[in-house]
Amino acid sequence: MFIKRKYPSTRLRRLRKNSNLIDLVSETNLSSSDLIQPVFIKENFSGKEDIKSMPGVFRFGIEDVLKEIEDIINSGINSIAVFPVIESSKKDSQGSEAINIDNFISTSIKKIKNQFPELVLIADVALDPYTDHGHDGILKGEEIANDETVKILTEQSILLADAGADIIAPSDMMDGRIASIRKELEKENFKNTILLSYAAKYNSKFYGPFRDAVNSASKLGKSSKSSYQMNINNKEEALHEVAIDINEGADIVMVKPAMPYLDIIHLIKDSFKIPTFAYQVSGEFSMLKNAINEGWLDEGAMLESLISIKRAGADAILSYAAKEISKEIKNK
Ligand code: PBG
Repeated sequence: MFIKRKYPSTRLRRLRKNSNLIDLVSETNLSSSDLIQPVFIKENFSGKEDIKSMPGVFRFGIEDVLKEIEDIINSGINSIAVFPVIESSKKDSQGSEAINIDNFISTSIKKIKNQFPELVLIADVALDPYTDHGHDGILKGEEIANDETVKILTEQSILLADAGADIIAPSDMMDGRIASIRKELEKENFKNTILLSYAAKYNSKFYGPFRDAVNSASKLGKSSKSSYQMNINNKEEALHEVAIDINEGADIVMVKPAMPYLDIIHLIKDSFKIPTFAYQVSGEFSMLKNAINEGWLDEGAMLESLISIKRAGADAILSYAAKEISKEIKNK
């Protein structure tokens, strides 16, 4: 591998002489097909509503989201991830609305897939949009009860698959949920439903704006998700998480957040060689977007952040900037 390089026989600047040359030897390429747009859909609502900490990101009513999805598709993006914003009155300690047949997210998925059958639709599996305490699982005393939660998540997954979701994405970090969901999907004859596991999901401070967006922040209060999400100090544990999820039946694994965890993305892709996605989360987006809007950062910083994630080894990236970046790439 080691090549002796010596000036002036080697001048690395030769290949940086103009943009055509630079592009010719470019190692990483980000394209629209690598990008997934998350969208927030709000129950009993029409129009679109700002999310203060995430400029340019909105909560849409179901009719309005259909127009937005058309725009996303026109930008060149083929995949979205949907997140419901549920009526407060429907939240309870068990997150029961999550397994209510014909709940808001199921009817929304049906409408979306009916209008855009080719669109790859990813549906999140977790109870946090539905619990009155804001946790991803159900509480038993002070504890998030793992096995009881897995049962509900499995039911939730079947509902989402039945509604037409192409990809089911458990983001809850309970132990054993991939095995349980995969088994039930097979049993119910959803043999081609793809499981995208949020396998290495860290207990990060970068989720703040998302929790505002789905109104779970105030419910969670000072409570932490440290008993199920990964310790930010750990790297090798991420390999264990991923290995287990692959064995249990995950088709794709995901690392979350992205930019503060580029080492993890690289390690996982390098070790397992399976489809590996990364989630550029709300706090990462917010940080960049607000600095760009203030004029403190050049707007190219957003594209640069996505390229760093791709370069680290991610095959695809969930990003709130997906649509705008896709338009930018197209017009380049
Ligand atoms: C929870 C969930 C979270 C996100 C997606 N699904 C946050 C959390 O753990 O509270 C975060 C996404 C983001 O910050 O953009 N099921």
